Amino acid sequence: MISVHVQQLSCMLRPRRILEIGTFTGFSALCLAEGLPEDGRLYTLELRPDDAATAAGYFARSPLGSQITLLTGDARTIVPTLPESWDLVFIDADKTGYVDYYEMVLPQLRSGGFILADNVLFHGEVLADEVKGKNAKAIAAFNAHVMQDERTEKVLLTVRDGLLLIRKR
Ligand SMILES: C[S@@+](CC[C@H](N)C(=O)[O-])C[C@H]1O[C@@H](n2cnc3c(N)ncnc32)[C@H](O)[C@@H]1O
Repeated sequence: MISVHVQQLSCMLRPRRILEIGTFTGFSALCLAEGLPEDGRLYTLELRPDDAATAAGYFARSPLGSQITLLTGDARTIVPTLPESWDLVFIDADKTGYVDYYEMVLPQLRSGGFILADNVLFHGEVLADEVKGKNAKAIAAFNAHVMQDERTEKVLLTVRDGLLLIRKR
């Protein structure tokens, strides 16, 4: 759970439009929404209807809930339909989708905007000589993909399971 750190980063960056991929119970969405100005909005995408329903319950009970749009379904389908320019994107869904999500949101990210990608150390498994397991391999591939990308600048924050802070040039 990286939520305290993303809350601090959101409050520092003051984004007007936030996209979160992977809502789960909505905790990180509520933390990210702390950084929104009054006219700001956060979109959060969740594949599983049960988790989306849980999150919707928490959003309904929060004063920040009115600034949150929760959409249920596959982010791969939903993201291209969103007519927004993002200031901040938080990628925290299935690890095998990270490269797709990154490539999908980058054109919609404003110049100078940020992507935060969670779990980029994957319990330290990405540092092994031979990376094993589907998810660790997917994260290692994501890290390699982003590191060679000249469209962005990045810094690895070694908090919790690793948070990659990526800035679009
Ligand atoms: C690690 S949890 C998110 C945790 C949440 N961001 C937090 O910190 O409170 C990952 C979530 O992504 C969702 N997910 C997985 N694949 C997805 C997809 N293709 N589109 C949208 N959500 C997806 C899962 O159902 C799961 O609830």
